[in-house]
Amino acid sequence: MSKLEFSHHLSESVKYRTDNDFTTGESYQIPHPNPIYFNYGCPNHGFFPIKNISIQSINKPFNNEDTTDFVINGTNNNENSTTNKSITISQGFQYMEVTGDKLFYNFNKELILKVNPPAYNDWDLLLTCGSIDGLNKIFNILINPNDTILVEEYTFVPTVNQITQYRGIPIPLRLNLNPNKNSNNGIDLEFFEDLLNNWRSYHPNLRKPKALYTIPNGQNPTGITTSMETKKKIYNICQSHDILIIEDDPYGYIILNDDFIHKKIAINDYINNYISKSYLTIDTSSRVLRCETYSKTFAPGSRVGFIVANNFFIDHLKKLTELTTTYASGISQTIIQNLILQKGGFQGWVNWLIELSKAYSIRKYKILEFLKKTKLVQDNLINIIEPNNGMFISIVFKFENANSNEYNIKSDLDKLYNICLNNGIVVILGKTMAVGERARENAKFIRITLAMADNIEEIIEGARRLTKSFEEYFYS
Ligand SMILES: Cc1ncc(COP(=O)(O)O)c(C=O)c1O
Repeated sequence: MSKLEFSHHLSESVKYRTDNDFTTGESYQIPHPNPIYFNYGCPNHGFFPIKNISIQSINKPFNNEDTTDFVINGTNNNENSTTNKSITISQGFQYMEVTGDKLFYNFNKELILKVNPPAYNDWDLLLTCGSIDGLNKIFNILINPNDTILVEEYTFVPTVNQITQYRGIPIPLRLNLNPNKNSNNGIDLEFFEDLLNNWRSYHPNLRKPKALYTIPNGQNPTGITTSMETKKKIYNICQSHDILIIEDDPYGYIILNDDFIHKKIAINDYINNYISKSYLTIDTSSRVLRCETYSKTFAPGSRVGFIVANNFFIDHLKKLTELTTTYASGISQTIIQNLILQKGGFQGWVNWLIELSKAYSIRKYKILEFLKKTKLVQDNLINIIEPNNGMFISIVFKFENANSNEYNIKSDLDKLYNICLNNGIVVILGKTMAVGERARENAKFIRITLAMADNIEEIIEGARRLTKSFEEYFYS
């Protein structure tokens, strides 16, 4: 497949972006063996108020007994060593290139190559300040006023607001929310294909979509993971309609599967048999822009993530980054890279991801074990969408009057929500993450999270309060 030309997908704003470089061109001078730098405003590391950082890391989530101590040094005592992959404070806390620290960049490249290798060669990776930042930058370089972007009908709200901020128009795609695990959940392919094939009749006044924004694994809010078979079909549809795919995947590394509770999962097994592979791996026409983040695998406060895309888009994203965030926090890069190194590099980091998956899988198991035993499930009043990734579970309700003319979903959901609040359990109503009227009116579900509880007891107490609330709603 020859590389496609993507310039028609760019926004007008990229045309007005120029290079940020204000150096006087060190390159034309005859290099001095020992130059003194009087040029940039980079404070010497002696001005930094931190000498070194001692870190105590944990090896398993919530286990404060199994720890490792290590130190991030101020300067490198072993400057010439090519094997030393640690970032010192003098390097990591200094101004950096837009691409970030080379060692951390290399680690992320290794991660992509080993877990989700793109199906073409001309790609690169650019660090971001997390996925929200990455998505904002992607929309900045793509969206002109009145451009349309396809989104899942229930989705991450900040993304929808980003699209409209650039005066783009988010177009919702129908989702199948079928509690049966084996059914084809996620984007409704029939609807998707029909919408694009008959775009002019559905939306006579709108441009054809430039991109699809999708959360493929552990979707927020539904928890659904798109199967590889469906991803291939979605990819082919996008390719035939010249649509880019913006893949936002904060949850792909967190696997929710009982296997992680009962046996030790090997690294190769995790990568080959449990990870739901990225659209990158089938991206023969280089149309995928993938956003990753360290928010869920390290900590949200790190504000570090990255975008993987073809070099054409990465170059435009770099220019924008130079003018905005300049690069991802050097302090965060320093801490994350050194932590990964201390854990043993790629293998150690993947072992941490396996431990994370185990801890989240236990939580999922405990909640589902509780809920599935309730009369509510037996009476078919609630259906649970069992997630394979991430931290969200959706619970779909069968409201008594749902098929009658007087049915008003808002009052049903508000009543249920208030009962939950009275019982001391706070949830998210599906309608608050809906795009468009149809989605809002069909949002007969709530989203709960596995992420926030302090411990398993709190998870079980939460499940108990949830059940009590549903019982009050349906049976009294
Ligand atoms: C789908 C999705 N994208 C992005 C984010 C935020 O990512 P980050 O913290 O990296 O900006 C979230 C967080 O909840 C999310 O659910």
